[in-house]
Amino acid sequence: MRYKVDNDTPHERKARIRSMFNSIVDGYDRANRILSLGIDRSWRKTVVQHCECKPSDVVLDICCGTGDISALIRGTGAQVVSLDFSENMIQKGRQKGNIDDLATVADASKLPFKDSIFTKVCISFGIRNIPDIDIFLAEVYRVLRPGGTFVILELTRPRYNIFRLLYFFYLYTILPVIGGMIAGSFNAYRYLSKTIHTFIDPVTLTAIQEKHGFIDITHKSMTLSIATIYISKKPPVDTSFLSIPLSKPSHPNNVIIH
Ligand SMILES: C[S@@+](CC[C@H](N)C(=O)[O-])C[C@H]1O[C@@H](n2cnc3c(N)ncnc32)[C@H](O)[C@@H]1O
Repeated sequence: MRYKVDNDTPHERKARIRSMFNSIVDGYDRANRILSLGIDRSWRKTVVQHCECKPSDVVLDICCGTGDISALIRGTGAQVVSLDFSENMIQKGRQKGNIDDLATVADASKLPFKDSIFTKVCISFGIRNIPDIDIFLAEVYRVLRPGGTFVILELTRPRYNIFRLLYFFYLYTILPVIGGMIAGSFNAYRYLSKTIHTFIDPVTLTAIQEKHGFIDITHKSMTLSIATIYISKKPPVDTSFLSIPLSKPSHPNNVIIH
């Protein structure tokens, strides 16, 4: 599955997105707060709740931006590895104290990690920016430990007609102007509107995740469907071969594995 915007190749689009995020760092957090009327904070908290983090968890926060989610996860006692391809975003996250030395600058579709090392993986407001979704999902599946949880938070479109119309009016008129004034790039916020309008819908994204082997996939709309959270799992390893019947050993050399 390719998600195309403006007929760019994945390579061209990534280069454009990377330089766009590198250029809006200073106003990025403030623009988020104002444009979402502060609701983005509660959406991010929902991601961490669905990750159900424990101190023993090792969590990968993909497209971490300035690290608001990474900080919330670290607050649960879990270990976090933050990843983003914008050096400036990571740098800003470090200044905010959200991102630590484990942070990695890399492409989300080429994760520089061994197989099955994270107990949880999350991505908030990032998947809409990734053109090669199939490659990305295969990478997440690879680095996730069997039984591990994958949580996606993404902006979506309202379902109800009147609100949808008002929302699109806001997306194409008010949002680029306010975002552009605060973060210094009208183009970046025009791009945001365009991708919210055209990104694949929750049912399709769920079907693609299923194709990649994820199980127990659910998605939940938030705030009149402006945002959607998707929760899924990598299947646990089949451990049935470990269970040996405990009734009447038929042979004195039977071994019971505890
Ligand atoms: C809208 S911001 C979201 C940041 C953060 N997760 C949050 O909740 O505020 C999207 C982030 O994804 C990063 N990004 C986009 N495409 C990426 C890719 N292919 N690989 C790594 N990072 C990417 C951008 O640099 C940017 O920091």
